[in-house]
Amino acid sequence: MVTVNKVVEFILNSETVQAHVPAGMLALDYLRQHKILTGTKSGCKEGDCGACSVIIGELKKNSIEYRPMTSCLLPMGELHGRHLVTIEGLNMEHLSAVQNAMVDCGGTQCGYCTPGFVVCMTAGLMAPQIPLNEEGVLYAISGNLCRCTGYQSIKNAGIQAIQSLRDRLINKERIKALVEAKALPTYFLGIAERLKAIKPNEILQMGLQQRGCTIVAGGTDLYVQRGEQLAESSITLLNNGSEIPSARACEGRVIIDARMTFEAFATDPVIKTHVQEIYDYNLLMASWPIRTRSTIGGNLCNASPIADMTCLLLALECSLILTSPDGHRRELPLNEFYLGYKQLNKKSDEVVTEISFPVFSENTYFNWEKVSKRAWLDIATVNASCKFEVKENHFTHSSMALGGVSATPLHLKEASAFLDGKPVSMDTFLDCLAVALSEFEPIGDVRGSAHYKRLLARQLLLANFVKLFPETINQEALYAAL
Ligand SMILES: Cc1cc2nc3c(=O)[nH]c(=O)nc-3n(C[C@H](O)[C@H](O)[C@H](O)COP(=O)(O)OP(=O)(O)OC[C@H]3O[C@@H](n4cnc5c(N)ncnc54)[C@H](O)[C@@H]3O)c2cc1C
Ligand code: FES
Ligand code: FES
Repeated sequence: MVTVNKVVEFILNSETVQAHVPAGMLALDYLRQHKILTGTKSGCKEGDCGACSVIIGELKKNSIEYRPMTSCLLPMGELHGRHLVTIEGLNMEHLSAVQNAMVDCGGTQCGYCTPGFVVCMTAGLMAPQIPLNEEGVLYAISGNLCRCTGYQSIKNAGIQAIQSLRDRLINKERIKALVEAKALPTYFLGIAERLKAIKPNEILQMGLQQRGCTIVAGGTDLYVQRGEQLAESSITLLNNGSEIPSARACEGRVIIDARMTFEAFATDPVIKTHVQEIYDYNLLMASWPIRTRSTIGGNLCNASPIADMTCLLLALECSLILTSPDGHRRELPLNEFYLGYKQLNKKSDEVVTEISFPVFSENTYFNWEKVSKRAWLDIATVNASCKFEVKENHFTHSSMALGGVSATPLHLKEASAFLDGKPVSMDTFLDCLAVALSEFEPIGDVRGSAHYKRLLARQLLLANFVKLFPETINQEALYAAL
């Protein structure tokens, strides 16, 4: 297949550039090899270490939304019409508040991770949704690893930077306020107008009409698996500059665009009114720079048995719309999407365009749980999610899902059906657990033995019950039964 070079026009720090490069080329390689901007470091090239972090600015109406991303998983084609900020683009004649704080607090030793930390902390200051406190610092650096400092000094630096700027940022437009506080270079003020002048790239925007190309959404799975190869391949970018709509409730269903990122999903007002703890669940999925890229559709189509969103969406009883290049749409329940390990009920050129689930009633109870080897920034060993409809203390409808216990994400059909009409009681939970555990035969792998996974599945289903019905769970009966 021929790789077509695309003219990608964007602003790199303060300079407008036209890059004649393959759309699938990694931004990290472009920065280091073509532009000799070596402050952006190459570490794991798998999205795990944060050494390659950059900040991407995207026009939203008249202002720009800035978010951190790992340039080792970022295709060049996506930069068209955007602002790419590297560590060099944050430099001024003096040290910025973040750079100063890193020096004051001893936040750097060998220095390899330092540009990534400075970039992500600065991104945290630029994003109005990130709180100006310790929690905000941890959120901002959730994707950065350091092998020298032990982190405390870096955390202290983040807190010091925030304390030195907080009064000047609260309730202000962040970019303007940061420039006024001399924490960002002045060129940032003119970026929005300059981005508006960049014309859309028609080839990149062809999107779904292109056939035979590898479909790339956020690229956070694909580029980990096939990073070098994709740079030389023909790709279709789903995130090609067109605005991705928010979730909406319509005719009894909540409808989301499959290109919605984890971060957008977790902060969406419609999603939050249904899945009220989505923000907390989201904190256990990847890191901020990955969540700003990883899409819901990509999580479903990667077909990993331990995919976190997939488990949650299975319990929500989602339906998918699959669209062919000729525009034909077909609807499929998510629990019919997985045919075997990494085998999908989907033609190679079909794209999942829409995902929907039934709106919650006042009687809906929902929860999601995960266990992984590390609490943060780790994939699940097992995950579990439950949705229950309860009326007059009886289950009227249920949907339960497990991940990590079979070759595909698993919808617990029998256990879900078993609950219909049963009273909400300790006995019902224990009987339901027995049915659920008979529905799968886990396989041991590097994340745990088959026995351990079965045990985890039981504990996570129980954790869902305890969380949703604390009044009903009787600890003594539970210990006796287990
Ligand atoms: C550091 C790191 C941490 C991670 N942590 C987690 C975690 O905690 N939990 C978790 O669940 N995942 C995690 N992931 C995995 C990954 O981020 C998610 O699976 C993500 O949702 C994939 O989405 P994407 O948009 O990046 O997919 P891509 O990589 O773009 O695509 C994945 C696959 O799906 C196909 N595809 C994508 N979108 C569509 C579509 N709309 N229609 C048809 N095909 C499509 C692609 O062709 C490809 O085969 C992590 C990844 C990294 C790098
Ligand atoms: S090089 Fe490690 S996250 Fe990109
Ligand atoms: S200072 Fe050496 S890896 Fe962080």
